Amino acid sequence: MGRLDWLYGRNVVLTGCSTGMGKEVLLILVKKYGCNVMGVARNKQKLDELKAELGDKFSYRRFNISSQEEWYKFAKELEDMGFMTDILINNAGMIQPFGQFNDLTDDQIAKIVNTNMLSVVYGCKAFIPTIKKSKFGAICNVASASAILPFGGESIYSCTKAGVWGLTECLKQELKGFNIKVTCVMPGPVKTDIYKAREGEKADKADSLVESVGITAQTAGKRIVKAIGKGKIRFFPDFLAKLMSLGMRCMPRLTPALSGGLMKAVCGKVKSFGPIYQEQIDRKKELKEMKKSRKAEIAHSIEDVKADGAFKNDDVTNI
Ligand SMILES: NC(=O)c1ccc[n+]([C@@H]2O[C@H](COP(=O)([O-])OP(=O)(O)OC[C@H]3O[C@@H](n4cnc5c(N)ncnc54)[C@H](OP(=O)(O)O)[C@@H]3O)[C@@H](O)[C@H]2O)c1
Repeated sequence: MGRLDWLYGRNVVLTGCSTGMGKEVLLILVKKYGCNVMGVARNKQKLDELKAELGDKFSYRRFNISSQEEWYKFAKELEDMGFMTDILINNAGMIQPFGQFNDLTDDQIAKIVNTNMLSVVYGCKAFIPTIKKSKFGAICNVASASAILPFGGESIYSCTKAGVWGLTECLKQELKGFNIKVTCVMPGPVKTDIYKAREGEKADKADSLVESVGITAQTAGKRIVKAIGKGKIRFFPDFLAKLMSLGMRCMPRLTPALSGGLMKAVCGKVKSFGPIYQEQIDRKKELKEMKKSRKAEIAHSIEDVKADGAFKNDDVTNI
């Protein structure tokens, strides 16, 4: 028997099944493993097309995953209709407008936190009781490589994905006695429409970066299903994500500095990404001058404090 054979015929709840990686995971689970998948997304046309293609093995519900109430209603509905969930895949998510943290509005921040992180909390809370009863339980949360190597311009996105990673690691520990496989997927760039949905930006700019370095959604989908089957707790589906993880393990201080520099070099050339780095570039000379004058000011302050007699050579001040 193969390591992935337990996936055959399982009941799955999958968010974000209408496009991108979620859609690819859905196709594999239904077509290859004959799973019964209950998908969650909002785009009716895309969901109906998938229903027409996949038939009885696929059903869907349309709701906003940010709503705690909808999650609990959904879980109750499935239980009432006898759909006993074995596997929960929290895949749906959104990206943030690229830019400085302080330029994000409170509404934008709330939307990103609710969609990317609280939805995962609600999903796990609503479905863990049922999954605990399954002999073939699994939970998979899709975070991002930016959970381990966050980068400027994507502050809240990185923050939510780090939260998803943290929750998943804890669930792995807490659910040990229940034979539930727990997986956190941390992709690098994947060619999907997620960048097109980025608010207030021309899609083609962000797209061109991902197009040149990203893997396809199909490749990511295949790898994600395998990782769920094997119950890999931390899974990096592409080379860049693996490299980011290795960098953070071996050189935890140098890697963020390098990736920040790289982002500045690459993104500085992309008009819509440029402004967050342009300010740094413009301020470079100013900063040098400021550092010089700061040194002089510090020297003055020390002299002033010493003259006041505040320095005493005792246990407290002798540090
Ligand atoms: N693509 C990448 O480079 C990349 C890299 C690292 C991590 N990720 C993560 O991987 C996951 C999948 O990303 P993807 O690239 O496949 O994205 P995608 O193609 O944009 O698909 C996102 C899916 O999530 C659903 N969704 C989004 N917000 C929702 C909401 N509020 N309520 C219900 N459904 C919602 C969308 O469905 P509807 O539009 O029909 O609602 C869609 O099916 C996300 O969590 C993302 O953060 C992606």
